[in-house]
Amino acid sequence: MAKSGNWIGAKVLGTLAIETQGLVKRFGRQVAVNRLDLKVPQQSVFGFLGPNGAGKSTTMRMLLGLTTPDEGRISIFGRDLKSNRIATLSEIGATIEAPALYDHASGWLNVDLTRRLRGLKRAETDRVLEVVGLTPVGAKRVSGYSMGMRQRLALARALLGEPKLLILDEPTNGLDPEGIEDMRALLSDLPHQTGVTVFVSSHLLSEVEHVATSVGLIYEGRLILQGEVRSLLSAQTRIVFQVNNPEQAKHIVLARGVADVIANADTIDMLVEQDRSGIAAINRALVEGGLEVSAVSVQLNTLEKLYRDTLSSCSQWAPL
Ligand SMILES: Nc1ncnc2c1ncn2[C@@H]1O[C@H](COP(=O)(O)OP(=O)(O)O)[C@@H](O)[C@H]1O
Ligand SMILES: [Mg+2]
Repeated sequence: MAKSGNWIGAKVLGTLAIETQGLVKRFGRQVAVNRLDLKVPQQSVFGFLGPNGAGKSTTMRMLLGLTTPDEGRISIFGRDLKSNRIATLSEIGATIEAPALYDHASGWLNVDLTRRLRGLKRAETDRVLEVVGLTPVGAKRVSGYSMGMRQRLALARALLGEPKLLILDEPTNGLDPEGIEDMRALLSDLPHQTGVTVFVSSHLLSEVEHVATSVGLIYEGRLILQGEVRSLLSAQTRIVFQVNNPEQAKHIVLARGVADVIANADTIDMLVEQDRSGIAAINRALVEGGLEVSAVSVQLNTLEKLYRDTLSSCSQWAPL
């Protein structure tokens, strides 16, 4: 398995939206966040995943300057958070807990109160309500809003002032499947629409797997895996070639350095760390070796499987 915290994916170029080095937070003797080295690329939707109690909220609170780390460093867009606190935090929008809303007031007013406190232009309220799709119900009281509408309202508030970074702690918590779908669509559109980077946590992989471009898995305070979704998933691809001579095909593939190859009655079956061009190269080698390839099936790894496999290998770790 990759060393904890190593980035898996294209070399990260340029300034990261979030970078932490050796971040630690203790509560008494408990290490809630344990030497976290996060790398969040700009304009990514970064899914911060882990079971309840893993340390997600504590990490996010540190990123927002709400809790002081015991050790380590945080830089946001290349600036040290500690020494550039005000300027840095002004570029971040966040929903950190269950949204606190004024139920008796309209959705519009809920956002507008924050807008006024922040000294932003009035048009900002209308803009953010539009982004989250609440313009038609902006005049209605929040008491009549569904959970999904409340979460979107909280997101609207976080979008005030056009932040460069959004930190969203479990924004799909408590939503029904339709609400989750709406939130997903919204989050995956945001980086294209506004150039924002979205750092979003969830304890349920399924809620972010289709929107995240990068993920980090945290377990018992440790970051056990992080990288681009595309690279993480191509790290183990199962490929089946249907061929006229599986034994001969197996030799050709073994000679290319693929270790796990099984020859079946009319197929060979292998696990490879290859991207598309690597798969094409294996295909070409088979054909050039004189074999007839009549079908290729590529079963891409799923994040779900990666998540389960990684967590189960971690639960066998000895405690620190
Ligand atoms: N203020 C606190 N005081 C004591 N322990 C805390 C506090 N906040 C969080 N913890 C503990 O730290 C661990 C990580 O919690 P948290 O960051 O909330 O996890 P997650 O958000 O992933 O569910 C948990 O064991 C939790 O009980
Ligand atoms: Mg939490």
